[in-house]
Amino acid sequence: MSTPGSIVEIAEDDLKELIAAELGAVRDRSFGLTTDVLAADDLTGQVSPLMSPLVWDLAHVGNYEELWLLRAAAGIEAMRPEIDDLYDAFEHPRAERPSLPLLPPDEARSYIGTVRAKVLDSLASVRFDTANPLTSGGFVYGMVVQHEHMHDETMLATHQLRKGAPALLDPLAEPLRNGGERSRVDEVLIEAGPFQMGTSDHPWAYDNERPAHLVDVPAYYIDVEPVTNAAYIAFIEAGGYDDPRWWDPAGWEWRNSSGKRAPAFWSRQGGEWLRRRFGRTEPVPPGEPVQHVCWYEADAYARWAGKRLPTEAEWEKAARWDPAAQHSRTYPWGEHYADGHANLGQQMLRPSETGSYASGASAYGVRRMLGDVWEWTSSDFHGYPGFQSFPYKEYSEVFFGPEYKVLRGGSWATHPLAIRGSFRNWDYPIRRQIFSGFRCARTPPEGP
Ligand code: AVJ
Ligand code: FE
Repeated sequence: MSTPGSIVEIAEDDLKELIAAELGAVRDRSFGLTTDVLAADDLTGQVSPLMSPLVWDLAHVGNYEELWLLRAAAGIEAMRPEIDDLYDAFEHPRAERPSLPLLPPDEARSYIGTVRAKVLDSLASVRFDTANPLTSGGFVYGMVVQHEHMHDETMLATHQLRKGAPALLDPLAEPLRNGGERSRVDEVLIEAGPFQMGTSDHPWAYDNERPAHLVDVPAYYIDVEPVTNAAYIAFIEAGGYDDPRWWDPAGWEWRNSSGKRAPAFWSRQGGEWLRRRFGRTEPVPPGEPVQHVCWYEADAYARWAGKRLPTEAEWEKAARWDPAAQHSRTYPWGEHYADGHANLGQQMLRPSETGSYASGASAYGVRRMLGDVWEWTSSDFHGYPGFQSFPYKEYSEVFFGPEYKVLRGGSWATHPLAIRGSFRNWDYPIRRQIFSGFRCARTPPEGP
């Protein structure tokens, strides 16, 4: 993979070459999750009201590309204006998408292929003018590449919910331990003080990551690793789901009405915890981060453990701040992306185990903050001070408010181009079909 770090300070022609290559790579990924592996019926059907039919995602990424790269960036007239409505995520909620007159898989594939051919044709003549925020630094191209990767992660969640014969093979049959050694400590103390949150200069950052601003964070402890399946099983077996003391009142209501008593896709057989993963059932691996838990479950576990979820600022400071250099890094390990520091990009269809990716630790020694599992934070999704919606309100701004909780760090299914230390994701606190886990934090006891 080319390095996302290299999109900074690179000649326009080289950047265009990188963009063309990444557009090709993400399309291969999309086909590998749709038309390459599933028959037409499987692509048009719906596995859950929470998810779109896969053929909707496929045509939607092409329609989004047509809107932003052909019409907005290159000034090319609409190819298929009559289908815009079908693929507008705000016009039709996911539950209703299978009943729309969607393009069938072969037509979807040819439509997005035609869009792509025109994008590649027009790329050479579009100027990445620094005075135009849409094209400066190749922003809108980066937006479209990231958008398709995000939908590929969503498609993986659809695959995980699918019943029937497995469609995806795990490229690594054995759990990846990455030759790592466990950290000697389970948590680290992050000293009180300001750090720079967000970014004003990453060319492909979204509006919600901007602008960079100082946040003064009181001292806190944060776990070196995400919470494991083994630790979560201890919570279950200690009766954690049955004790309202651990639960937020809304979480207790969710626990009562949903009937859930374990992470999604788990079952218990003869005293053993099993999980279904991409169509296969296997024992729950104790050393992997717990996955497919909702915010309410994460919050309850943390309280049971005598801890709490980190705030979004605490998460980002532990991931990015370099106290010696007094500077926030792009990635926990430094400025540039390199393979081998994090379990990102669907290298395998699962998180890695505790002790992996020691080389990806942050300046504070906090591990696996990028990749493996999205991490729930205690924070609601809001704009930073000075937030300005760009290039459209429906990317971030319409979601600001108390209904959504922020997740950080990406998962094993997140592509490296679609994650960085400042990246923010959000979802409802009841959602667990996403690749979500968490780590804990705590406030140091008062001194003498
Ligand atoms: C940032 C993952 C919450 O999937 O709803 C996709 C990304 N925005 N298409 C989502 C997104 C437009 C978004 N998340
Ligand atoms: Fe989208």
